[in-house]
Amino acid sequence: MTTTLRTRVAIVGAGPAGLLLSHLLDRAGIDSVVIDQRSRDEIESTIRAGILEQGTVELLDTIGEASRARTVGHRHDGIELRVEGEGHRIDFAETVGRAVWLYPQHEVLKDLIAARLAAGQDLRFGVTAEGIEDADTDRPRVIARDADGARLEIEADFVVGSDGSRSVARATVTGSSTGGYFREYPFAWFGILCEAPPSSDELIYSNSPEGFALVSQRSDTVQRMYFQCDPDTDTAAFSEAQLWDELQKRVPGTTLKQGPIFQRDVLRFRSFVAHELRRGRVALVGDAAHTVPPTGAKGMNLAIADVRLLAAALGALLLDGDERLLDAYPETASRRIWKAQHFSWWMTSLLHVAPDATDFDRRRQLGELRTVVESAYGRAYLAEAYCGWPFDA
Ligand code: DHB
Repeated sequence: MTTTLRTRVAIVGAGPAGLLLSHLLDRAGIDSVVIDQRSRDEIESTIRAGILEQGTVELLDTIGEASRARTVGHRHDGIELRVEGEGHRIDFAETVGRAVWLYPQHEVLKDLIAARLAAGQDLRFGVTAEGIEDADTDRPRVIARDADGARLEIEADFVVGSDGSRSVARATVTGSSTGGYFREYPFAWFGILCEAPPSSDELIYSNSPEGFALVSQRSDTVQRMYFQCDPDTDTAAFSEAQLWDELQKRVPGTTLKQGPIFQRDVLRFRSFVAHELRRGRVALVGDAAHTVPPTGAKGMNLAIADVRLLAAALGALLLDGDERLLDAYPETASRRIWKAQHFSWWMTSLLHVAPDATDFDRRRQLGELRTVVESAYGRAYLAEAYCGWPFDA
């Protein structure tokens, strides 16, 4: 038994990219169906990064009251780079007149899912895409299975792969699931969530001889913190006391507020850009198209920037029969993707101590940090990228 659905845009993946795309298409009067293999609960509870660029918040404003980024989230007008215990503030307002919002990704997802369901959107959880067929025709199809194993086919005018780093859609577009530019890093982040108020008003990115640590936040009562670790670290390898020691020794100059640690995870560092972002009537957005290491929190913001371009391109194609924006999509999206790739790599290399770093490497890195923090231009360079390049620049 196969059920066949017909829609204008089939969207594989209900992450921030897929959900926002369906919202923007809906505003333009274009129907879509969104599927995701995960359950709603899993999507809404997976902990990811927490920083939204200003442009991301402005796009989320278009979902109306449902977006709580400004009301529940907090605006941050700067961050601190801590260099061997010495603090240097990067003032976003003064350097670039922009800001970021601290608002966790899973909260963005809750807002988008609520808005989509309220709009009567066809949004299906527990549905696994198995492949995409007829990409080179104007009637591409997604072949999927629901939670009971029943086969579902979605026929569309266009298919979008917003299905994350293990994308099924990527193989259709690039010819292989791994086809892309790739880089791995010799370190990872050990992340914790703990019950304690923020240790600092603003985020602290700390480069210390012991390695990197990031002091972030989630709310008035929950802190998110990370420290540099070996990629093969087992999350159970540390006692709570050891975790606090590891964190504290990397943040000289601040006494961290401690509390029960209720979640631990290890985040691997990878840079990836798919060789192709579009084939015929199938396009990739977000993590399906690219991955960045977490330093600087560009991942979700970059996905949202892809979606903004693709929504406009699909509007032109499906409403006016004009393919020019779609033809330009890979090139236009790639410009920002590679800027964000560079920034994420640069913030990573600026702040982490590589396991094989020589004394020369370490001193050179401190020289680079001073070049940034002691110069109004250096601070502005960092602030501009961190807050997100304006969309129309
Ligand atoms: C967070 C994650 C990041 O990668 C970052 O650069 C800043 C904040 C976070 O999870 O809070």
